[in-house]
Amino acid sequence: MDIFEIDGPVKLSGTIEVAGAKNAALPIMAAALLAPGETVIPNAPNLADIRSFETLLASLGAAVGRDRTGRLHIDATTIDTPVGEYEIVRKMRASICILGPLLARCGKVKVSMPGGCAIGDRPVDIHLRGLKALGARIYLENGYIVAEAPPGGLVGAQIFLGGPFGSTVLGTDNVMMAATLAKGTTVIESAACEPEVADLAHYLNAMGAKIRGIGSPRLVIEGVTELKPVTRPVIGDRIEAGTFMVAAAITQSRLHIRNCDLDNMVAVADRLRSIGAVVEPADDGCNVVMSGAIGPADITTQPYPGFPTDLQAQFMALLALADGNSVITEKIYPDRFMHVAEMNRMAANLRKEGPNVIVAGVEKLIAAPVMASDLRASAALVLAGLAAHGTTVVQRVYHIDRGYENIEEKLNGVGAAIRRIDV
Ligand code: EPU
Repeated sequence: MDIFEIDGPVKLSGTIEVAGAKNAALPIMAAALLAPGETVIPNAPNLADIRSFETLLASLGAAVGRDRTGRLHIDATTIDTPVGEYEIVRKMRASICILGPLLARCGKVKVSMPGGCAIGDRPVDIHLRGLKALGARIYLENGYIVAEAPPGGLVGAQIFLGGPFGSTVLGTDNVMMAATLAKGTTVIESAACEPEVADLAHYLNAMGAKIRGIGSPRLVIEGVTELKPVTRPVIGDRIEAGTFMVAAAITQSRLHIRNCDLDNMVAVADRLRSIGAVVEPADDGCNVVMSGAIGPADITTQPYPGFPTDLQAQFMALLALADGNSVITEKIYPDRFMHVAEMNRMAANLRKEGPNVIVAGVEKLIAAPVMASDLRASAALVLAGLAAHGTTVVQRVYHIDRGYENIEEKLNGVGAAIRRIDV
């Protein structure tokens, strides 16, 4: 099992490149199931989660692989086993987004009910509600969700997809994908507006779907009879970009971050500017510059265009070094605070009270052995390690490999000193 040894504090400088977005690529890989033939995603990131999804698609009958240039090919001509097995689904909750496309393509699908995970309960009731509204019969059988389309196929409907924590990203993806091949018109109200959902919708339209209102909470989908595979890249990963922005700020450095669209990151740029960083558009991305005291800031995570929950842990590492007190409120996953205790081991002063964390800024962080608990929490520990005095040891690095492509190589390329060691 790999660990990271991170020497700090370091100064960073130069250009760092963001990969294709994991959370756009995963549902788009599922969308490939809608169209017999070969879909190509030229810039699908090379990550553990993407490889798990490749295994899932192959288990359904698709032919999946990378060519010599790294482009991901998915040939979904044959889908003979529309079953998402427990052994694969339990590793990655995003597997749930095969439900909508397989229901539309095969008329019947079984997917293991995903369990909870380190960041919270993560139910799928809204996904199922949406698919039922399209006419599917849905029941639970031995831990599997079974969904069956009515004899004449799915039928468009008006569907409200709001839940107790706002919209649902993969729930919107699932229902939108199923609706592309339903008869008639589907209107999804309270659709998730995340750029990754919009990217999937654009992908589907390139395949021949008819989706309007992309990027808004009201999607209107005219069903079509068939979709064709396409070759199309995914958007840059705004969470990886945001992680590098924090890397610049927490090390009092200047970084040029490439393949990032600031228009998708307005809330993130706003919080960075409020603590004193300079964030400016630059060649194919942005520059982030920080010098001097880090100001405190209050942050509340919300569905897009609000501040993303997937950057909450990273900003907590940054605010731990602020000159003053901050409050971070988690409105998407109220229990997503596994990193709090670990950062406190590095001499941060964080106090969790319900869905809030009070961050009392400290002058310096001190290196310690820490344990990664989930993907974004582990990224936050790496960021803390860049600024902390001494050598931070991060265990269970496999969490970070799920969602960041070669993070240590990328950060070392701009001046970090991170060693990956197989222990
Ligand atoms: N929710 C329900 N019922 C549902 C679905 C969701 O109550 O049927 C709740 C969730 O428990 C949560 C909220 O609604 O409180 C929002 O969850 P959402 O469904 O939007 O999350 P998701 O689609 O399962 C995606 C990302 C997550 C990211 C969230 C929120 C992918 C593969 N995953 O998950 O990414 O945190 O949206 O933006 O796109 C990550 O990359 O580290 C990650 C966890």
